[in-house]
Amino acid sequence: MAERESRRDNKAMDGRWSLLGTTALVTGGTKGIGHAIVEELARFGAAVHTCARNEAELETCLKKWEGMNLNVTGSVNNAGIAIWKAATDHTLEDYRHVMSTNLDSAFHLSQLAHPLLKASGSGSIVFISSVAAIVGMRNISAYSERWISLPEALHVNGRRDSNKLCLPGFIGTPINQQLLEDKEILAAESNRALLGRVGEAARWRRWWLSCGGQREVFRVAAEEKTMEVDRERWSLMGAAALVTAGTRGIGHAIVEELARFGAAVHTCARNEVELEKCLQRWGAMQLKVTGSVCDVSSPTEREKLMERVKSIFNGKLNILDYKFVMSTNLEAAFHLSQLAHPLLKASGSGSSIVFISSVAGLVGFDGICLYSATKGAMNQLARSLACEWAKDGIRANCVAPGCIRTPGNEQLLKDEEFVAKESGRVPLGRVGEAEEVAAVAAFLCLPASFYVTGQVIAVDGGRTVNGNV
Ligand SMILES: NC(=O)c1ccc[n+]([C@@H]2O[C@H](COP(=O)([O-])OP(=O)(O)OC[C@H]3O[C@@H](n4cnc5c(N)ncnc54)[C@H](OP(=O)(O)O)[C@@H]3O)[C@@H](O)[C@H]2O)c1
Repeated sequence: MAERESRRDNKAMDGRWSLLGTTALVTGGTKGIGHAIVEELARFGAAVHTCARNEAELETCLKKWEGMNLNVTGSVNNAGIAIWKAATDHTLEDYRHVMSTNLDSAFHLSQLAHPLLKASGSGSIVFISSVAAIVGMRNISAYSERWISLPEALHVNGRRDSNKLCLPGFIGTPINQQLLEDKEILAAESNRALLGRVGEAARWRRWWLSCGGQREVFRVAAEEKTMEVDRERWSLMGAAALVTAGTRGIGHAIVEELARFGAAVHTCARNEVELEKCLQRWGAMQLKVTGSVCDVSSPTEREKLMERVKSIFNGKLNILDYKFVMSTNLEAAFHLSQLAHPLLKASGSGSSIVFISSVAGLVGFDGICLYSATKGAMNQLARSLACEWAKDGIRANCVAPGCIRTPGNEQLLKDEEFVAKESGRVPLGRVGEAEEVAAVAAFLCLPASFYVTGQVIAVDGGRTVNGNV
């Protein structure tokens, strides 16, 4: 068993986690989710412009942000609304009011912003939609319809701009203040949510304190500007993580990403020489990483690995990141999750399982049917564990990469015809990098994502939403 310990350095973040030098327009920023987004983007260093209808409220917010040293400007305008009524009671006026406020404005603003986003070279549109767009909910039928296909349509037309859809569940904000005051609705909604509560901003503090975290912000100076991100939500200081298959490709990038966020990481692979080389490199980078030789396809080796992890991290584990290395390894994913369960549970609420699955688990490909079937099963395993283990404070999510440049598919990516064909299928027009997968896996481990569980997030440049021939 090879093992090496190296010193921790939590300040080694790079430009991928910064919005310095970028500009953002956030509609409806004076209250609720929009307000929180304004502050989050501005803390990451973006210059933000926001709008709302109530001028006095907007002024109060702008003053507050100025006092916080955040770069935010504002103007009076419209944002999203929801009318809570039975579908049969909606009038045509209600329908038009919701559609024009929510859907027309989203489309029109996207059109108007397009030249500006394009000029920036790497524009990003994020629509805040709702879970009401994917599951049926009583009394908000017109609100739900608006989000069905807009991001997908813009995504494939936009090509180089990336467009994302964020689907909040029930979040405690002023828009649903009245509902939240109704104890029956609050209890019913909390019961329905796996994590047993409606979403809110401050919940991660308990986890943070249980990890021994201290309040601090990290500052990155670049071209005389600074960003001040709240480290309580965007840090893994004090967290313990097991990342399987960490010596190459996506796993390697995830080890480094989690360790840079301050986690103590244990990783494994079969090749001892390669593992030793990686541990030396991480030591030189002052990242806190240990490692064991382990073939995760062997049940006894998995048990030995978990014993090792248990003793290194004193019986607690906050993060299990599992890469499904071969198509025969669904059993390993399940078994390692079982073995990790008591350690994840012991670490208190907020621990996280991340499975690295594949877009092959979401859409069909010729020639890899068994691999694809196992990846699809892995996505479902994450959903099931999310339901069953939420009561133990454990979240479970999947990251589904598209075509990513790693040593594992080096040969394939030497085939220029394949790369050109694959890139042509991807709206963002290229294959991905391992770091782009690692960033999403890290987000799913951070306190910032503590209300996200049971999800499969594709990191595929938009490949799986492209309906074009
Ligand atoms: N690259 C892509 O385009 C892509 C796309 C979709 C999904 N994925 C998924 O992402 C994951 C990682 O892929 P990758 O491309 O990064 O792979 P990679 O470049 O081939 O790296 C594989 C890593 O896994 C380790 N490993 C392999 N078998 C193992 C075993 N039985 N026990 C322990 N460690 C083992 C390897 O080290 P040793 O050889 O020393 O064990 C190495 O560290 C896989 O689940 C893959 O299906 C990749």
